[in-house]
Amino acid sequence: MLEANAIVAGYGAAEQILKGASLNVQAGELVTIIGPNGAGKSTLLKTIAGLVPAKEGKITLAGQDVTAQSALERAKSGFAFVMQERNVFGMLQVKDNLELAYSGPRRGFASARDAMMDRYPVLAQRRHQLARTFSGGQRQILAMAMALLTKPKILLLDEPTAGLSPKATNELFDAIIALRNEGMPILMVEQHALEALQISSRGYVLVAGKDAATGTGAELAADPEIRRLFLGG
Ligand SMILES: Nc1ncnc2c1ncn2[C@@H]1O[C@H](COP(=O)(O)OP(=O)(O)OP(=O)(O)O)[C@@H](O)[C@H]1O
Ligand SMILES: [Mg+2]
Repeated sequence: MLEANAIVAGYGAAEQILKGASLNVQAGELVTIIGPNGAGKSTLLKTIAGLVPAKEGKITLAGQDVTAQSALERAKSGFAFVMQERNVFGMLQVKDNLELAYSGPRRGFASARDAMMDRYPVLAQRRHQLARTFSGGQRQILAMAMALLTKPKILLLDEPTAGLSPKATNELFDAIIALRNEGMPILMVEQHALEALQISSRGYVLVAGKDAATGTGAELAADPEIRRLFLGG
Protein backbone atom coordinates (compact mmCIF):
# COMPACT_ATOMS: atom_id res chain seq x y z
CA MET A 1 0.00 0.00 0.00
CA LEU A 2 2.51 2.61 1.25
CA GLU A 3 6.23 2.21 0.87
CA ALA A 4 8.81 4.75 2.01
CA ASN A 5 12.33 3.75 1.12
CA ALA A 6 15.59 5.22 2.47
CA ILE A 7 14.14 8.67 3.08
CA VAL A 8 16.54 11.53 3.70
CA ALA A 9 14.89 14.83 4.59
CA GLY A 10 15.20 17.84 6.84
CA TYR A 11 14.65 21.53 7.10
CA GLY A 12 16.74 23.92 5.03
CA ALA A 13 20.50 23.76 5.06
CA ALA A 14 20.81 22.29 8.55
CA GLU A 15 21.75 18.67 9.15
CA GLN A 16 19.21 16.21 7.79
CA ILE A 17 16.66 14.93 10.28
CA LEU A 18 15.75 11.73 8.45
CA LYS A 19 18.85 9.74 7.57
CA GLY A 20 17.62 6.86 5.49
CA ALA A 21 14.33 5.89 7.13
CA SER A 22 12.26 3.12 5.57
CA LEU A 23 8.84 1.72 6.38
CA ASN A 24 5.83 0.20 4.71
CA VAL A 25 2.15 -0.22 5.41
CA GLN A 26 0.35 -3.12 3.76
CA ALA A 27 -3.34 -3.20 2.85
CA GLY A 28 -5.50 -3.22 5.96
CA GLU A 29 -2.65 -2.62 8.40
CA LEU A 30 -2.48 -0.27 11.35
CA VAL A 31 1.20 0.60 11.75
CA THR A 32 2.59 2.66 14.64
CA ILE A 33 5.84 4.61 14.77
CA ILE A 34 7.32 5.10 18.22
CA GLY A 35 10.58 6.67 19.29
CA PRO A 36 12.12 9.38 21.44
CA ASN A 37 11.32 13.08 21.18
CA GLY A 38 13.07 14.66 18.24
CA ALA A 39 13.72 11.34 16.48
CA GLY A 40 11.98 12.66 13.37
CA LYS A 41 8.61 10.92 13.65
CA SER A 42 6.58 13.98 12.67
CA THR A 43 9.11 14.84 9.99
CA LEU A 44 8.68 11.37 8.52
CA LEU A 45 4.88 11.75 8.37
CA LYS A 46 5.27 15.23 6.86
CA THR A 47 7.69 13.89 4.26
CA ILE A 48 5.29 11.08 3.38
CA ALA A 49 2.44 13.60 3.08
CA GLY A 50 4.58 15.89 0.92
CA LEU A 51 4.86 18.80 3.37
CA VAL A 52 8.63 18.31 3.68
CA PRO A 53 10.52 17.41 0.48
CA ALA A 54 12.50 14.18 0.43
CA LYS A 55 16.10 14.89 -0.57
CA GLU A 56 16.69 11.20 -1.20
CA GLY A 57 14.58 8.09 -1.26
CA LYS A 58 11.32 7.02 -2.79
CA ILE A 59 7.69 7.00 -1.67
CA THR A 60 5.01 4.94 -3.39
CA LEU A 61 1.30 4.64 -2.66
CA ALA A 62 -0.59 1.69 -4.10
CA GLY A 63 2.23 1.17 -6.59
CA GLN A 64 2.30 4.80 -7.74
CA ASP A 65 5.54 6.76 -7.27
CA VAL A 66 4.49 9.96 -5.48
CA THR A 67 7.98 11.18 -4.52
CA ALA A 68 7.85 14.12 -6.92
CA GLN A 69 4.25 15.06 -6.07
CA SER A 70 3.28 18.15 -4.06
CA ALA A 71 1.25 17.83 -0.87
CA LEU A 72 -1.92 18.72 -2.80
CA GLU A 73 -1.21 16.11 -5.46
CA ARG A 74 -0.55 13.53 -2.74
CA ALA A 75 -3.87 14.40 -1.09
CA LYS A 76 -5.52 13.69 -4.44
CA SER A 77 -3.50 10.48 -4.75
CA GLY A 78 -5.03 9.25 -1.49
CA PHE A 79 -3.06 10.51 1.51
CA ALA A 80 -4.99 12.08 4.40
CA PHE A 81 -2.81 13.62 7.09
CA VAL A 82 -4.20 14.53 10.50
CA MET A 83 -1.56 16.80 11.97
CA GLN A 84 -1.04 17.04 15.68
CA GLU A 85 -2.18 20.64 15.92
CA ARG A 86 -4.26 23.11 13.96
CA ASN A 87 -6.08 20.30 12.21
CA VAL A 88 -9.53 21.95 12.23
CA PHE A 89 -10.82 25.43 11.39
CA GLY A 90 -11.65 26.77 14.85
CA MET A 91 -13.57 29.81 13.60
CA LEU A 92 -15.94 27.69 11.52
CA GLN A 93 -18.90 25.59 12.54
CA VAL A 94 -18.47 21.86 12.66
CA LYS A 95 -20.68 21.34 9.60
CA ASP A 96 -18.61 23.86 7.62
CA ASN A 97 -15.37 22.11 8.58
CA LEU A 98 -16.82 18.93 7.12
CA GLU A 99 -17.93 20.72 3.96
CA LEU A 100 -14.47 22.25 3.45
CA ALA A 101 -12.80 18.88 3.84
CA TYR A 102 -15.06 17.08 1.40
CA SER A 103 -13.46 16.71 -2.01
CA GLY A 104 -15.86 14.50 -3.95
CA PRO A 105 -18.61 15.46 -6.41
CA ARG A 106 -21.04 18.12 -5.11
CA ARG A 107 -24.12 15.91 -5.24
CA GLY A 108 -22.41 13.34 -3.01
CA PHE A 109 -21.68 15.72 -0.15
CA ALA A 110 -24.90 15.50 1.89
CA SER A 111 -24.85 11.73 2.11
CA ALA A 112 -21.10 11.63 2.85
CA ARG A 113 -21.58 14.21 5.62
CA ASP A 114 -24.58 12.40 7.07
CA ALA A 115 -22.69 9.10 7.06
CA MET A 116 -19.85 10.80 8.96
CA MET A 117 -22.32 12.26 11.47
CA ASP A 118 -23.84 8.81 11.97
CA ARG A 119 -20.38 7.42 12.59
CA TYR A 120 -19.47 10.17 15.05
CA PRO A 121 -22.73 11.38 16.70
CA VAL A 122 -20.97 14.26 18.50
CA LEU A 123 -20.59 15.91 15.10
CA ALA A 124 -24.34 15.78 14.51
CA GLN A 125 -25.22 16.93 18.01
CA ARG A 126 -22.87 19.90 17.74
CA ARG A 127 -22.98 20.62 14.03
CA HIS A 128 -23.56 24.37 14.55
CA GLN A 129 -20.88 24.82 17.19
CA LEU A 130 -17.60 26.53 16.33
CA ALA A 131 -14.87 23.93 16.17
CA ARG A 132 -12.75 25.90 18.64
CA THR A 133 -15.32 25.25 21.37
CA PHE A 134 -14.66 21.52 21.08
CA SER A 135 -12.70 19.55 23.66
CA GLY A 136 -9.42 18.06 22.54
CA GLY A 137 -10.99 14.66 21.98
CA GLN A 138 -13.93 16.06 20.03
CA ARG A 139 -11.54 18.07 17.89
CA GLN A 140 -9.54 14.96 17.03
CA ILE A 141 -12.76 13.19 16.03
CA LEU A 142 -13.66 16.13 13.80
CA ALA A 143 -10.18 16.15 12.28
CA MET A 144 -10.41 12.42 11.62
CA ALA A 145 -13.87 12.83 10.04
CA MET A 146 -12.46 15.55 7.79
CA ALA A 147 -9.65 13.25 6.73
CA LEU A 148 -12.08 10.40 6.03
CA LEU A 149 -14.27 12.66 3.88
CA THR A 150 -11.44 12.76 1.34
CA LYS A 151 -11.88 8.98 0.91
CA PRO A 152 -8.18 8.36 1.50
CA LYS A 153 -6.22 5.26 0.61
CA ILE A 154 -4.23 5.75 3.82
CA LEU A 155 -4.68 7.78 6.98
CA LEU A 156 -1.63 9.40 8.60
CA LEU A 157 -2.15 10.34 12.26
CA ASP A 158 0.41 12.34 14.24
CA GLU A 159 -0.08 11.77 17.97
CA PRO A 160 -3.87 11.74 17.84
CA THR A 161 -4.16 11.37 21.62
CA ALA A 162 -1.64 14.07 22.62
CA GLY A 163 -2.96 16.14 25.49
CA LEU A 164 -6.17 14.14 25.87
CA SER A 165 -7.61 12.85 29.13
CA PRO A 166 -7.38 9.09 29.73
CA LYS A 167 -11.08 8.77 28.90
CA ALA A 168 -10.79 10.75 25.65
CA THR A 169 -7.64 8.77 24.79
CA ASN A 170 -9.55 5.50 25.15
CA GLU A 171 -12.41 6.82 23.03
CA LEU A 172 -10.04 7.89 20.30
CA PHE A 173 -8.25 4.52 20.36
CA ASP A 174 -11.69 2.90 19.99
CA ALA A 175 -12.36 5.06 16.92
CA ILE A 176 -8.97 4.05 15.47
CA ILE A 177 -9.65 0.36 16.20
CA ALA A 178 -13.00 0.65 14.41
CA LEU A 179 -11.28 2.06 11.32
CA ARG A 180 -8.63 -0.66 11.50
CA ASN A 181 -11.35 -3.31 11.67
CA GLU A 182 -12.90 -1.87 8.52
CA GLY A 183 -9.55 -2.29 6.76
CA MET A 184 -8.52 1.36 6.55
CA PRO A 185 -4.71 1.47 6.27
CA ILE A 186 -3.36 3.71 9.04
CA LEU A 187 0.14 4.95 9.83
CA MET A 188 0.30 6.71 13.18
CA VAL A 189 2.78 8.20 15.57
CA GLU A 190 1.85 7.71 19.22
CA GLN A 191 3.27 8.64 22.61
CA HIS A 192 1.07 6.04 24.29
CA ALA A 193 3.48 3.59 22.76
CA LEU A 194 2.49 0.41 24.54
CA GLU A 195 -1.26 0.88 24.05
CA ALA A 196 -0.68 1.82 20.41
CA LEU A 197 1.52 -1.23 19.72
CA GLN A 198 -1.09 -3.48 21.30
CA ILE A 199 -3.69 -2.46 18.71
CA SER A 200 -1.25 -2.33 15.79
CA SER A 201 -0.44 -4.91 13.15
CA ARG A 202 3.17 -3.75 13.14
CA GLY A 203 5.38 -1.06 14.52
CA TYR A 204 8.60 0.78 13.85
CA VAL A 205 10.99 2.32 16.34
CA LEU A 206 12.49 5.48 14.89
CA VAL A 207 15.74 6.65 16.48
CA ALA A 208 17.83 9.58 15.22
CA GLY A 209 16.13 9.62 11.83
CA LYS A 210 16.42 5.90 11.11
CA ASP A 211 14.11 2.92 11.58
CA ALA A 212 16.02 1.17 14.36
CA ALA A 213 13.67 -1.77 14.91
CA THR A 214 10.50 -3.24 13.51
CA GLY A 215 8.18 -6.13 14.19
CA THR A 216 4.60 -6.97 14.95
CA GLY A 217 2.99 -4.79 17.57
CA ALA A 218 3.06 -7.71 20.00
CA GLU A 219 6.76 -8.46 19.32
CA LEU A 220 7.85 -4.89 19.92
CA ALA A 221 5.65 -4.57 23.01
CA ALA A 222 7.27 -7.73 24.44
CA ASP A 223 10.89 -6.90 23.54
CA PRO A 224 12.79 -6.26 26.81
CA GLU A 225 15.18 -3.71 25.26
CA ILE A 226 12.36 -1.75 23.63
CA ARG A 227 10.30 -1.94 26.80
CA ARG A 228 13.18 -0.56 28.81
CA LEU A 229 14.03 2.24 26.39
CA PHE A 230 10.66 3.32 25.02
CA LEU A 231 7.81 1.75 26.93
CA GLY A 232 8.70 2.66 30.49
CA GLY A 233 10.04 -0.70 31.68
N1 LIG B 1 10.01 23.37 10.90
C1 LIG B 1 11.18 22.97 11.40
N2 LIG B 1 12.31 23.66 11.12
C2 LIG B 1 13.52 23.27 11.60
N3 LIG B 1 13.70 22.18 12.38
C3 LIG B 1 12.61 21.45 12.69
C4 LIG B 1 11.30 21.80 12.22
N4 LIG B 1 10.43 20.87 12.68
C5 LIG B 1 11.16 20.01 13.40
N5 LIG B 1 12.47 20.34 13.41
C6 LIG B 1 13.54 19.60 14.09
O1 LIG B 1 13.59 18.29 13.56
C7 LIG B 1 13.90 17.34 14.59
C8 LIG B 1 12.87 16.24 14.57
O2 LIG B 1 11.60 16.80 14.87
P1 LIG B 1 10.26 15.97 14.75
O3 LIG B 1 9.17 16.92 15.09
O4 LIG B 1 10.19 15.26 13.46
O5 LIG B 1 10.48 14.90 15.91
P2 LIG B 1 9.44 13.93 16.60
O6 LIG B 1 10.07 12.58 16.61
O7 LIG B 1 8.11 14.07 15.99
O8 LIG B 1 9.44 14.47 18.10
P3 LIG B 1 8.25 14.58 19.18
O9 LIG B 1 8.19 13.23 19.82
O10 LIG B 1 8.75 15.62 20.12
O11 LIG B 1 6.99 14.97 18.47
C9 LIG B 1 13.95 18.13 15.88
O12 LIG B 1 15.30 18.36 16.19
C10 LIG B 1 13.26 19.43 15.55
O13 LIG B 1 13.78 20.49 16.30
MG1 LIG C 1 6.25 14.77 16.62
